[in-house]
Amino acid sequence: MIIEAQGLGHAYGEGSTRRIVLEGVDVQLTERRIGVIGHNGSGKSTFLRMLNGLVLPSEGKLLVNGMDTAKDAKAIRKLVGFLFTDPDNQIIMPTVAEDVAFGLRKSGLPAEEVNRRVDELLDRFGLLGHRDHPAQLLSGGQKQLQALAAVLITQPEMIVMDEPTTLLDIRNANEIGRIINTVEATVVLATHHLHLLEDFDRALVFDHGHLVADGDPATSVARYRALMEA
Ligand SMILES: Nc1ncnc2c1ncn2[C@@H]1O[C@H](COP(=O)(O)OP(=O)(O)O)[C@@H](O)[C@H]1O
Ligand SMILES: [Mg+2]
Repeated sequence: MIIEAQGLGHAYGEGSTRRIVLEGVDVQLTERRIGVIGHNGSGKSTFLRMLNGLVLPSEGKLLVNGMDTAKDAKAIRKLVGFLFTDPDNQIIMPTVAEDVAFGLRKSGLPAEEVNRRVDELLDRFGLLGHRDHPAQLLSGGQKQLQALAAVLITQPEMIVMDEPTTLLDIRNANEIGRIINTVEATVVLATHHLHLLEDFDRALVFDHGHLVADGDPATSVARYRALMEA
């Protein structure tokens, strides 16, 4: 997976309400594990949403495997899955198994293959015993695992995760962190649970819409902590 941001920027609103929230981001990402950190409002979610074309650049370009998100968003969304902070925003179907299978509804795969993939993921995430339960009744941690399974089922090359552990207690956050480490796809993870980035290849630090640091996680986390104290 190759992500290239070239002079990337974004502004929300128009006219007098127009506000630049991301500016001049130039970066090339090829690593398998990339962290994104920064204060609330620093532009992390805006940057993440641009990676699969949910938000389009107001300035510059974002290329995913050479495809421009402004032109090829549909193709890019097949490669790039997205996991939101609140799994309730992602749960669509009544039961756990149906919800996890949802992304394959137009795949043309035979029902047995869909069921095989669903059960394999549910088993891996300790949710097989809940397969036919109402999805809304799972605990917060289980819901986030279900949402991750629903993304993984389509076998994306990259998964963008926007603070997937922020609503969870530390035990569940660590469990999700452990499972994230087992994901084969490229992962881009925005988080305030900084310890989850320990084994990552690289971490980006955003501040006031600018990419202000970029390096190995320990160095980036130190820069972020220094910003907090500034
Ligand atoms: N849909 C939106 N409309 C207007 N402003 C927005 C919208 N989404 C985010 N913002 C603003 O953009 C800035 C960056 O937000 P965001 O990318 O969500 O940062 P982070 O994820 O780091 O908290 C914030 O000031 C936020 O208020
Ligand atoms: Mg955010």
